[in-house]
Amino acid sequence: MGVTIRVDLGPRSYDIVIGPGLIAQAGAHIRRLDPKSACAIVTDTNVARHHLGPLTASLDAARIRHASIMIEPGESSKSYAGFATVCDAILSGRFERGDFVVALGGGVVGDLAGFAAASLKRGMRVVQIPTSLLAQVDSSVGGKTAINSPVGKNLVGAFHQPTLVLADVGALDTLPRRELTAGYAELAKYGLIDDAAFFEWLERNRAAIVAGGPERIEAIAQACRSKAAIVARDETEQGDRALLNLGHTFGHAFERLTGYDGARLVHGEGVALGICLAFRFSTRLGVGTGQDADRVARHFQAAGLPTEIRDVPGFNASPDAMLDAIGQDKKVQRGSLTFILAHGIGRSYIAKGVDAADVRSFLTDEMGRN
Ligand code: GLY
Repeated sequence: MGVTIRVDLGPRSYDIVIGPGLIAQAGAHIRRLDPKSACAIVTDTNVARHHLGPLTASLDAARIRHASIMIEPGESSKSYAGFATVCDAILSGRFERGDFVVALGGGVVGDLAGFAAASLKRGMRVVQIPTSLLAQVDSSVGGKTAINSPVGKNLVGAFHQPTLVLADVGALDTLPRRELTAGYAELAKYGLIDDAAFFEWLERNRAAIVAGGPERIEAIAQACRSKAAIVARDETEQGDRALLNLGHTFGHAFERLTGYDGARLVHGEGVALGICLAFRFSTRLGVGTGQDADRVARHFQAAGLPTEIRDVPGFNASPDAMLDAIGQDKKVQRGSLTFILAHGIGRSYIAKGVDAADVRSFLTDEMGRN
């Protein structure tokens, strides 16, 4: 029933295992990697309620020493203070460089624990056990780790590949519906980047994926195959990997301008809206078609995702504030704006040197849409 996908990175290669029941088998998997290691588990209070017991029971059964470090759920934990708390707790637990940090949770836990692992003792190993759809299809794979700065999202971080990813699809059954929906945007992204057939398959199978079952595993596996291929050819985002940021330039700006307040906008929702804007902006610049932009928006709307700026509760930032936030994007090179745009569904590309005046007038019109 499970699927294993290899991320091919020479000495840093690793498996992504996808299937049900993997949290309860984590001890056996980690023991196979290294029978003498100990595990510093980083998780949040929501995830711990459902999944920490089965994980620690499986580590106990495998006779692996472990300790748990609890963070508050939500983006605000990806801060300098959150980072210090996690690092100090791991250091106080007397873990050695060869031990594992185990990230049990969604994107916030994975990014924060991964960055702690990258930094502690100049690099501890990390096992990612993603429990959200977003983390299973995107953030747990590929080694991007980071915390947020008051200046912008994910601006302080490192590339640090995991040693193993265990994507337990059963964990998705305990996710709040909104989190599952938000993660769907990152799943659809893979079809929109370079796989029109996958997007068509998602259009037919979205309901089955949300409901669970074999389509869900197949969808996650296909997303991980795509991501593994991109990461293998461009680990540190010198080129193609930037395509994975489709929707993120706009999306991160919305997250920043809503104060990273998950009650208003969670990351996957920002990405969904950002993807819709990227497709409409492509149409506006004459590189993409309105039919494709409408088709993407229809699909996200059916999934329950935001597709218009007015869908973000109470959003009233100006186009200039948006441009200012976009200016903090990691893809900005020598002051020039880079966006991921699309010639069509499955035909995304990296557009460098985008004129800020075009972005400004596009956003002004988008803010006037109702
Ligand atoms: N989440 C985008 C990447 O891993 O490159």
